[in-house]
Amino acid sequence: MILAMTGKGGVGKTTLAALTLSWLATHGESPVLAVDADSNANLNEAMGIAYCATVGGIRESARKEATALKGVSKQEFLDLRVQEALVEQKGYDLIVMGRPEGQGCYCFANNVLREVLDRLASNYRNIVIDSEAGLEHISRRTLLSVDYLLIVSDCTVRGIRTAGRISALADEVALPTKQRGLIVNRVPGGCLPEAIAEAVKATGLTLLASIPLDQDVAALDADGVPVSTIAPGSPARIAMNDLLAKLFTNQQEKN
Ligand SMILES: Nc1ncnc2c1ncn2[C@@H]1O[C@H](COP(=O)(O)OP(=O)(O)OP(=O)(O)O)[C@@H](O)[C@H]1O
Ligand SMILES: [Mg+2]
Repeated sequence: MILAMTGKGGVGKTTLAALTLSWLATHGESPVLAVDADSNANLNEAMGIAYCATVGGIRESARKEATALKGVSKQEFLDLRVQEALVEQKGYDLIVMGRPEGQGCYCFANNVLREVLDRLASNYRNIVIDSEAGLEHISRRTLLSVDYLLIVSDCTVRGIRTAGRISALADEVALPTKQRGLIVNRVPGGCLPEAIAEAVKATGLTLLASIPLDQDVAALDADGVPVSTIAPGSPARIAMNDLLAKLFTNQQEKN
């Protein structure tokens, strides 16, 4: 299953993507590919790992070295570089997309890269995409075709309305997603206030989960400790685990 976290800035996409990755890696759902599609990449920090190369960097060098490449096809060159950029961990691998292209023509490099990434993706049972904040990646349709678009919002009426707009935009551009739903994050006490519940209803989105405002998440973040190491009993981890168990059971019943 390909899951993508989307939503406005700072709502918790990366945090929830990291909790998702740890759940998948420890619940028999491997192999898992984590795709950091935020140009300000930080999913690796949430998982406590480092990376050396990005797909954006590979694209840039492929464009520059295109004429210098002899004897080896561009496809093979990119395949090899993407393999090298993959950070292999226990239960999952991470690929960082990096910055989007600069000026100049990237069409050829992009087309070849898309094939390389599609081939890479086909090696994995599950893929988790942490996307960039806002609407641009949706309007540009840069996401892979996803099975589940998870629209994350904070616990404010304005945030929920933005989530509704993201969903409407996904419809407008006919984003290839099979299912989508809303996750309200940082909910005080874990129970949605009335005004928020009303705003959720108005979006027409399915509410998948309310993730509590969790002091453990805040404390780890304050100390620069990866959120993936959060205690099993922490409220955000428990709520996210419940959601994932539900999503993956439903998926198995469908197959
Ligand atoms: N359930 C939670 N309880 C407490 N704090 C949280 C929770 N979820 C996320 N946070 C905090 O909210 C902040 C933003 O989280 P995060 O970086 O995951 O958001 P994001 O949507 O990925 O942001 P960006 O749009 O910048 O990529 C972080 O400080 C994180 O620790
Ligand atoms: Mg993020």
